Amino acid sequence: MYDVYKIRKDFPVFHNSKTIYLDNAATTYKPQSVIDSVTKYLSKETANSGRGDYHDAYVVDKRVDDTRLLVQKFLNAKEEDEIIFTHGTTMSLNLVAQSYGKKVLKPGDEILLSIAEHASNTLPWFDVAKVTGAKVVFMPLDDKGLITPEIVKKYLTPRTKIVAVTHISNVLGYINDIKSIAKVVHENGSIIVVDGAQSAPHLKIDVQDLDIDFFAFSGHKMLAPTGIGVLYGKKELLAVMDPFFSGGGMNASYTTDGKVDIFKAPRKFEAGTLNIEAIYGLHSAIIYLQKIGLENIAAHELTLKKYALNELRKLDHIIIYNEDAPTGIITFNVRGVHSQDAATYFSSKNIALRSGQHCAKLLKNHLHEMATVRASIYLYTTKEDIDAFINAAKTAEDFLDAYF
Ligand code: ALA
Repeated sequence: MYDVYKIRKDFPVFHNSKTIYLDNAATTYKPQSVIDSVTKYLSKETANSGRGDYHDAYVVDKRVDDTRLLVQKFLNAKEEDEIIFTHGTTMSLNLVAQSYGKKVLKPGDEILLSIAEHASNTLPWFDVAKVTGAKVVFMPLDDKGLITPEIVKKYLTPRTKIVAVTHISNVLGYINDIKSIAKVVHENGSIIVVDGAQSAPHLKIDVQDLDIDFFAFSGHKMLAPTGIGVLYGKKELLAVMDPFFSGGGMNASYTTDGKVDIFKAPRKFEAGTLNIEAIYGLHSAIIYLQKIGLENIAAHELTLKKYALNELRKLDHIIIYNEDAPTGIITFNVRGVHSQDAATYFSSKNIALRSGQHCAKLLKNHLHEMATVRASIYLYTTKEDIDAFINAAKTAEDFLDAYF
């Protein structure tokens, strides 16, 4: 039995803050177990990783290795060496673009993206296109807001080398059928890069079953600290890539004439000291999510979303853009009110929402809106939170009066 009130007891922020937090697609609160793990590293187990030959360093090395193994299982990757620690989804996607894109793209090749992509899955591809002479091609969404295999197929050409798409749009909340998309991408001889920032926190991911070539996600959107993310890549693809940046920890030796003996993945992509305390936190975050069960979390979010929509639909002044998206993201506007003004109004009622273009700046043509307001639900959101949100939405009409 899913007990949201019991879950909330694990999150100290609820004892310290009265905010009704509905900005979980941006970042999430942290449970005590994650805070304790980070504190344990900082206060009891501090040492660098992958470098020290003393007891405390071995303890830290083991935690880092254990976390890599845990992430491997979390994604059902074939091998732990396919898991690279990064700073977050943005760095993971930049790593693929810089290390894989630069290596394989030739002038005239195509990189296929959707108009729903976050800036972090768009701008790195512009950068790589500029230096390789490749071309970035954008595909539209279907009427609902999905990237479908049919659309992908229509936009694939013999020159398409890379298809980079979001698993769940951070604005629309629809779940793209990545397994079917990967199939058409592979039939074309291209590879698929998946932005999993909004899916890993809510869905069970199986990179082998989905047949994904690269999958990126961030820890902070799934209860872990900021500054830690993951790039999963198929071993044979990681093997052909050059490091995106260099330094200590990624090489066995080098000479004055510039010959560098580089380690294999994942170490060749992890120059410098890792964000070790955040890795400790990621470990505890995954354990916590697995204890509650991702299927249970997704079901809880959907129940609350349906409840919210039933009420919001009754309000003529609320426009909803993603009614049937099967995740906890509700994207809307208060008719005639700029999204930032609306978010400020909700904030006056202690409700935290995000407004604007949500870093997905090519979606405005699809939405026929410059900006929207987004409420996003997570495992600790209660019916009372949604009631407060709906009550505020009801009185948003009064707020409107101030504008006319
Ligand atoms: N990408 C995060 C969001 O959608 C920051 O809010």
